[in-house]
Amino acid sequence: MAAPRQFADARAVAAALRPSYPVYCLRPHVLARQAKRFLTQFPGAVLYAVKCNPHPLVVDALYKAGIRHFDTASLPEIAQIAETYPDALSYFMHPVKSRAVIKNAYRVYGVRHFVVDHEAELEKVLEETGGRDVTIMVRINTPPSEGTLYHLSKKFGAAPAQAVALLRRAVAAGCPTGIAFHVGSQCLKPEAYRVALDLCGRILSEAGVEPVAIDVGGGFPARYVEMDSPPLADFFQAIRDGLKANRVGPTVEVLCEPGRALVAAGCSLLVQVQLRKDRQLYINDGIYGSLSETVDAGIRLPARLIRLGDPAPAEATQDFVLNGPTCDSLDVVPGTFELPADVREGDWIEIDQVGAYSNALATHFNGFFPETFVTVQDPSPAFAETTRESAA
Ligand SMILES: Cc1ncc(COP(=O)(O)O)c(C=O)c1O
Repeated sequence: MAAPRQFADARAVAAALRPSYPVYCLRPHVLARQAKRFLTQFPGAVLYAVKCNPHPLVVDALYKAGIRHFDTASLPEIAQIAETYPDALSYFMHPVKSRAVIKNAYRVYGVRHFVVDHEAELEKVLEETGGRDVTIMVRINTPPSEGTLYHLSKKFGAAPAQAVALLRRAVAAGCPTGIAFHVGSQCLKPEAYRVALDLCGRILSEAGVEPVAIDVGGGFPARYVEMDSPPLADFFQAIRDGLKANRVGPTVEVLCEPGRALVAAGCSLLVQVQLRKDRQLYINDGIYGSLSETVDAGIRLPARLIRLGDPAPAEATQDFVLNGPTCDSLDVVPGTFELPADVREGDWIEIDQVGAYSNALATHFNGFFPETFVTVQDPSPAFAETTRESAA
């Protein structure tokens, strides 16, 4: 991987590159500090959910900060981790996998942890691996938690009776067995983890199974505009309380699979204004590129104007609509952005907190594709907030 160009901040990027294309400004030091927070405060192993941002620079920053476990959901993700970091461990956490992929993950890449949420999937895993040296994680569904942006249990997870049967079958097949859940992405309620852990406790005791691992999934929130997310410490405390209340012993491995909370603050996006029509700004990235979560999840992102040259941007501000670059009339970022009233063609806008589910979800629609990464060294405003939070 070629080393990225390095700059002091997004303004320096604009000055050096004068980019008419979107540029991701990565902050490896922010990624490292978020990783350290998880590694030091979470009571167990931290698996980075690669799907959230698989860019090699992002994964590398996390690896350098000490992340050695990865939640992988496809063979390409497994290959990326195994071929770059031979000492790292991949866990196959997608509940639905093809037989060929299971076989290759096991035989070629040495994956030994597989999640299942259905009897037929469990049989597939047992058949393709021979059940040798394989840990089976049974994914359960959890009740929806208020404010959570994506309720993943709508699609995945076994109901309690089914989970009991799966746990027993995995144990009968001679496999070390654990239990997993995902409370939903951008979860705003620490209690959701406690509720899910209580459910795990009931299911395990009904199954009469001693788990080797309990995986509390991802879902930890990032800090977006107008979204009141409690500090991460509250989530870790709820998990500790849930483990204690359910008498999870020290030999049980506790896992988590954060994506969003690890990487959202570690990257901003530098876009350029290509046309202004009154309060409508036409920029060079949009909902088919880095900003799809502003639609899918209603996330609001902080933004600031960067202008090179004179005059300095006006102090007065106005609310602007950001239109994406494609010809599609749906390609408009929901909501408005407060920016200096005299925004003009050629100005840049730095949009913060785009480290999660941005480049990972971008399409090539209409010939546009955001792919330029540089690194910057300044603390992002969003990160300054997180630092205050952890000091409190
Ligand atoms: C199985 C699994 N683990 C972890 C994650 C990461 O979740 P988050 O980004 O909310 O932390 C996801 C996201 O879809 C997931 O499906």
